[in-house]
Amino acid sequence: MSKRMVSPAEIQCKSKVLARIYRRQFIELAQLRRHICSIVPLRRFNTVVEPGCGTGLLAEEIISLADASYTGIDISESILSIARRNVPERDGLLFVHADIREYLPAADAFFSSFFLAGLTDPVTFLRRAADALPKGGFYIVFGEYNYSGIMEDPPSGLAGRIIESLLRGGFSIELGGKLDSVFTEAGFNTVISGSVRGDMQKPDRDYISLQLGSGYRYTAHHLLSWEIVWGVYRTPGA
Ligand SMILES: C[S@@+](CC[C@H](N)C(=O)[O-])C[C@H]1O[C@@H](n2cnc3c(N)ncnc32)[C@H](O)[C@@H]1O
Repeated sequence: MSKRMVSPAEIQCKSKVLARIYRRQFIELAQLRRHICSIVPLRRFNTVVEPGCGTGLLAEEIISLADASYTGIDISESILSIARRNVPERDGLLFVHADIREYLPAADAFFSSFFLAGLTDPVTFLRRAADALPKGGFYIVFGEYNYSGIMEDPPSGLAGRIIESLLRGGFSIELGGKLDSVFTEAGFNTVISGSVRGDMQKPDRDYISLQLGSGYRYTAHHLLSWEIVWGVYRTPGA
């Protein structure tokens, strides 16, 4: 059976929805980012690379703190076009359309947010990232969901449905629950890591439609709380 072609209008529409979801997450996690940035010696980096940069939300913030040249890489051209609108490219700030499984430049530090769990084989990717870093090079995870830590009230199976949908999409849903050991397996040392839990809140309509279809019904009283993990990791030999 032939695959249905996705029209440019559909791609643009989906990208706009994704951009809304990324922005909401970004706003919610401002405090966590401030905490992580206070720990990491951002000023020491000359070159930083962000795999799965999405709409470029982290680019502007990190560049202003790090004073480093920045390359954001994303597999989605339509998402990158939003990044280029949000953060115009300039000397030392570049967005590259590529699959990080095929293109990963050398850097003093990598950072990513909500990217690793979307890979089917994060350990293989992280081993390549370790090879592209100097001794003592940093990989900073600004956030990944721990899907096994979703809490729902009242229990209705919505969390289970989301997890099933992510599994069908090839997500490494167990990554968030074992972030440190995934980095250890890939050859990194853990500097510091932790987790934060969001308040119980109504599910994001955009996110639920994207994962479960626009017809999925849940009640207005249905609340979810997500756990987000983060970490700072280094290659050995600093
Ligand atoms: C959940 S989004 C997060 C975007 C952004 N980091 C943020 O936090 O707003 C994951 C991003 O990774 C990109 N991505 C997924 N697989 C990729 C790959 N193999 N190479 C490059 N980018 C990839 C997707 O296109 C998407 O923009």
